[in-house]
Amino acid sequence: MKEEISKAVVEALGLSEAEASVIIETPPDSKMGDLAIPCFGFAKALHKNPALIATELKELLDQKKSSLGVDEVICVGGYCNLFVNRAHYVKTALTQINTDNLGVQKIGTGKTICMDYSSPNIAKNFHVGHLRTTVIGNSLYKIHDKLGYNVVRINHLGDWGTQFGKLIVAYKNWSSKEAVEKNGIQELLDIYVKFNKEKDDHPELMDEARAWFVKMEQGDEEALSIWEWFKDISMVEFERVYKMLGISFDSYTGESFYREKVPDLAELLKEKNLLVESQGANVIDLSEYGMPPCMITKTDGSSIYHSRDIAAILYRKEKYHFDKCLYVTGLEQSLHFKQVFKAIELMGYDYYTGLVHVPYGLVSLDGEKLSTRTGNIIYAEDILNEAVKRALELIEEKNPSLENKEDVAAKVGIGAVIFHDLFNQRIKNINFSWKEVLSFDGTTGPYVQYTYARAKSVLRKYGKELDNSAIDYNALTDDSSFTLAKTIGGYEKAVYSAAESYEPSIIARYLINLCTDFNKFYQECPILKEENDAVKEARLQLVNVTSQIISDACSLLGMECPEEM
Ligand code: ARG
Repeated sequence: MKEEISKAVVEALGLSEAEASVIIETPPDSKMGDLAIPCFGFAKALHKNPALIATELKELLDQKKSSLGVDEVICVGGYCNLFVNRAHYVKTALTQINTDNLGVQKIGTGKTICMDYSSPNIAKNFHVGHLRTTVIGNSLYKIHDKLGYNVVRINHLGDWGTQFGKLIVAYKNWSSKEAVEKNGIQELLDIYVKFNKEKDDHPELMDEARAWFVKMEQGDEEALSIWEWFKDISMVEFERVYKMLGISFDSYTGESFYREKVPDLAELLKEKNLLVESQGANVIDLSEYGMPPCMITKTDGSSIYHSRDIAAILYRKEKYHFDKCLYVTGLEQSLHFKQVFKAIELMGYDYYTGLVHVPYGLVSLDGEKLSTRTGNIIYAEDILNEAVKRALELIEEKNPSLENKEDVAAKVGIGAVIFHDLFNQRIKNINFSWKEVLSFDGTTGPYVQYTYARAKSVLRKYGKELDNSAIDYNALTDDSSFTLAKTIGGYEKAVYSAAESYEPSIIARYLINLCTDFNKFYQECPILKEENDAVKEARLQLVNVTSQIISDACSLLGMECPEEM
């Protein structure tokens, strides 16, 4: 509708194409109109004041009202406000939604996006910070997939670096095969913490650790087999978390894969005159851009996080021909990605413009930073398990005769954790609180899932097929049905803006609005009790469409909706 109204405005005012940028807003209060056309932007081209333009525009639009689906045009200062014909509007919105893909255009067809997310570090627990990148990344994948993009989901495992030297030393001194097999990552974590405590009094430990890492870099068999084993142990734990979340990846190619590509990268940088020596290391000088140098190889010639990331970009471009490559990590890595992207630009690759860092805020616990080193940490798996347990308790209390209780509890508990993570803008810091994560009231995932179950229950009770070719749209013009239809009509836009700003919270907030509007409609409009059949069926259509959108939008966040709760 907006498109058609814009066209009519351009025509009515006789604007040329260059001048024709028509903005259509939503008035702050629906009593003032459903849509508002600000006329300030036309003043220059038309040499008239905005209020006068609005009056003239009203007269011209009045003649076309009915074909535009508008009931009334009023002038308020420099604005032309429109009251749409509600039946026409509801029809447009529902017809649009009742098409393929719920009316969302596949604007990404033919384009490839690499998404680098989750990427936990081997031998370290999967903590609440990694839960954020995993959940945000997964949602961005689902959103782009819905828009038709070809998305490559990459888990850039942190499986290389000096810490593995420390770990081998710690293992040899204080642990055993049996202990690692029995306790898994926890054992590795414990001995890593111990190493970091002991190294202050025993500096020789650091030398040993460096020596072991050099061995790893040189392909020493013993070093690599211990490392490989630590990796396997870690993957078992990571996979458990991914399984609970219903998440999978197309590639687990992590840092260790790229270490061997760094010597070639260094060569290439030398050819391009970008490599300079600095205290025995090789770096790219970025002082001109106000950044510290980007290290490529360390004094002992080994690779580093930065150079492995640069090598990964060249590899991914060649392998996947990406149009964009997104990196979902904590905000504290911003400088790292600025340096890495700058390096690609300086190498002369114009695809650097498609590299995007998608940062998220810090998670703290009672105001303190989380750190593996100090053991101040919360594990993703514990959060998920706890939430599922609590969901099960609630079901036992409120609906003990429900079938598949465990299955529903898993969907609700995990849905609560995911929604909690995605509801706020990703850049906001989160102070982790068990109470908040485990709360199922208010703006939460379970509230959304409950609304879905409520809608499905109405449809089940009705029991008959609905025919969406014969809807009496005039039965949906009351305030609450119309408001709900307006929100339904906004789904497509919510998906586009979420993709555009890499912001799943737009979908989460959309869902809360949709559920609030639905619950109001549900209270105010009798559905199954309605005596007029045409009105009853029209209302059921709204219920049906709402349930489809809730379930679709939830899946974009990575949540599932149980049919009953
Ligand atoms: N492993 C890193 C961490 O845990 C995240 C890696 C992100 N991806 C990348 N290509 N650098 O902080």
